[in-house]
Amino acid sequence: MSNVRKMAHWSAPLSKLAHWLTNEDSFSNYLYPIASIFRPQTHPDLIPAKVISLVWQNKNIYTLTLKPKRSQFRNFLAGQFVLLETEVNGRRLQRSFSISSEPDAYERHGIIQLSIRVQEHGKVTPWLCRNAVEGSYLHISQAQGAFTDSKRIAPKLYIAAGSGITPVLSMLLQAHDKHDQNQSSLLYFVRDSSDTGFGSEFKRLREQGVDIRIFSTPESGYFTEQHLQSLPHKAECYEAYICGPGTMIESCKNVLTRSGIDEQDIYFEYFGFPFTHTLQETGDTSSVEGHAISFKRSGRQVHCQKNDNRTLLQIAENEALSPLSGCRIGVCHQCACKKISGRIKNLRTNTISDSGPEEIQLCISQPVEDVALEI
Ligand code: FES
Repeated sequence: MSNVRKMAHWSAPLSKLAHWLTNEDSFSNYLYPIASIFRPQTHPDLIPAKVISLVWQNKNIYTLTLKPKRSQFRNFLAGQFVLLETEVNGRRLQRSFSISSEPDAYERHGIIQLSIRVQEHGKVTPWLCRNAVEGSYLHISQAQGAFTDSKRIAPKLYIAAGSGITPVLSMLLQAHDKHDQNQSSLLYFVRDSSDTGFGSEFKRLREQGVDIRIFSTPESGYFTEQHLQSLPHKAECYEAYICGPGTMIESCKNVLTRSGIDEQDIYFEYFGFPFTHTLQETGDTSSVEGHAISFKRSGRQVHCQKNDNRTLLQIAENEALSPLSGCRIGVCHQCACKKISGRIKNLRTNTISDSGPEEIQLCISQPVEDVALEI
């Protein structure tokens, strides 16, 4: 038997033994907290990344420059994100952050940049800006995500809102490095156009001929047909990349398809929660009397009131359970969990499941009736 096959042969029983003895899935997970005191780079699954700097772009967004371990971090595609793990008050928390720098910068200098908006009541983003000091270590995953350049030669229209600019910036900077940006237009929607940040990146891109237009949403609202008509090419020539809140993406898609852009030429990534419909808004009344959520492995049960719009992830966390999570918007699949019974609503697709067992993503699922979960 080869060494690889021998290891695979033992991995399931070892994992069971580790779970039985330590309540962790592996012995390395159990030993990790002790090992990390002596070697902060140590992590059983993730890649160590040294903090090089933390620079504020504006009063809400900071850019973290990281140097991931070269031998472990494969490069990424512009537009992708990484999961970043921190330990906050003794709890390991993961969140997903888009990479705002370009892949060529990693090739040349071994660095990546994450541009992060501080979430006022968040656990991770305020902690990071206080604690990610130069020389300290964080841990990241390999890059993930399918919001990347199609490689088709066509004029590109980028539409970004708020911190949805980060993956778009990476795409534009990469095109800049490949001298392929002359056909690009960026429409960037912000709340306050005097405080957008990314001044040096925008300057560099403008010097290379990228058409960058910044709009203040309180004055101009979001994207309309008029914006499209003011661009250098006819609408149907464009390939469009949109990143921002779900409602903004839906409205941009409608404008673009109405104007003749093929749906297949529209790429998008949700930043923030994809949909804001409540169960009652969508005509589903089965939750009006409330419902019970049972967590089988932990033996807990909680009753949700009518009009409770929390996701199953939020409900579990409020019960002091610690299901794994990352992006919290249905992208990374970290929160995948087995539903034993009960119908749930998928907030991303706006569909209701059937009542049988299936794998669901807790962060984009709301209960429609009594639901039992494996965790
Ligand atoms: S936390 Fe990323 S998909 Fe749910």
